[in-house]
Amino acid sequence: MRNEPSFDLERVQAALHTSVLGCRVIWRETVDSTQYELRRLLEQGEPDGTVVVANEQTAGRGRRGRVWQDRPGEDLLFSVALPPGLQAEGLLPVALGAYLAEALGQETQQPVRLHWPNDLVLGASKLGGILVEVVGGHFLVGVGINVKGRVSDLARRIGRSVTTLEVGLERPLRREDALAACLNALARAQEQLASGDRGPVARKIADLDGLRGAPVIITGPQGLIEGTALGIALDGALIVRSGLAVTEVTVADDVTIQAT
Ligand code: BTN
Repeated sequence: MRNEPSFDLERVQAALHTSVLGCRVIWRETVDSTQYELRRLLEQGEPDGTVVVANEQTAGRGRRGRVWQDRPGEDLLFSVALPPGLQAEGLLPVALGAYLAEALGQETQQPVRLHWPNDLVLGASKLGGILVEVVGGHFLVGVGINVKGRVSDLARRIGRSVTTLEVGLERPLRREDALAACLNALARAQEQLASGDRGPVARKIADLDGLRGAPVIITGPQGLIEGTALGIALDGALIVRSGLAVTEVTVADDVTIQAT
C-alpha cells in the first residue's frame, strides 16, 4: 500500500471535539523530534494546545533518553503541549495512557491496554508509547503509534513483538483519524484531571491496566523482583506483590518491566 503523500490537517481539525488541544496543528515532513520542535515553537510564542505532527523523526526519543525508532509515512508521531496547572505529575503519563488506550480500543474494536508506565499494547505486542516531559511548567506529551505497514523490521530492531492499528482494525486507517482520536482522548483526560476529581481517572486506569494481575519481572536499582502486578497507585507507581512483600515501583526507578 502506498503511503499518503502528506497529511490532511483539515481532516484532523474537522474530527476534533476539543478547542484547546489542536488549536494549532503543525505538520513537519522531517524533524529531529516533535518534542524538541514543540519546545522551540512554544519558545516562539505558540499557545498551549499546539500540536506538532511529523512524518519522520531523525532523533526520536523514548522514555529515559532511549531512541524511538519510527517508520516514515506509517507511524503517527506527535507532541502536544497541555495547558499548565495540572497537579498530577506522577499520575499524568498513566492517566493519559489509559485514555489513549481506551480511544484506540474504540478505534480498532480491539482491547488496547496500557502497560505501565508508558506502553500501549494490543495483545502482547507494542502498539505505541507515550513520553511526558515538563518544560517551563508545560507538560509536553509525545506519542508514537504504529498505524500501518509492515512491522517485522521494527520488531527485529527493538527486539520485541510489535503491531499496528491497521492489524487490529483489519482495514486501512488514516493517520489523521488516529491523531484526532488521540487528541480527543487526551483532552478528556486533561479536563478530568483539571477538575480535581481523580476518581474517574483512577477507574479508567484500573480498567485499561494491561499488567493488572500479570506476572512481572522488574529489573531496577533494587535488583530483580519477580512478582505479580496488582495495579497502579494514585501517584502513578506500579504496585507489585512479591512473596509476602508489596512494593511500589516508580518511573524514577529506571525499571524494565517484563510481563511473563
Ligand atoms: C516510549 O515508549 O518510550 C515513549 C515513546 C514516545 C515516542 C514519541 S514519537 C513522538 C514524540 N517525539 C519523540 O521524540 N518521542 C515521542
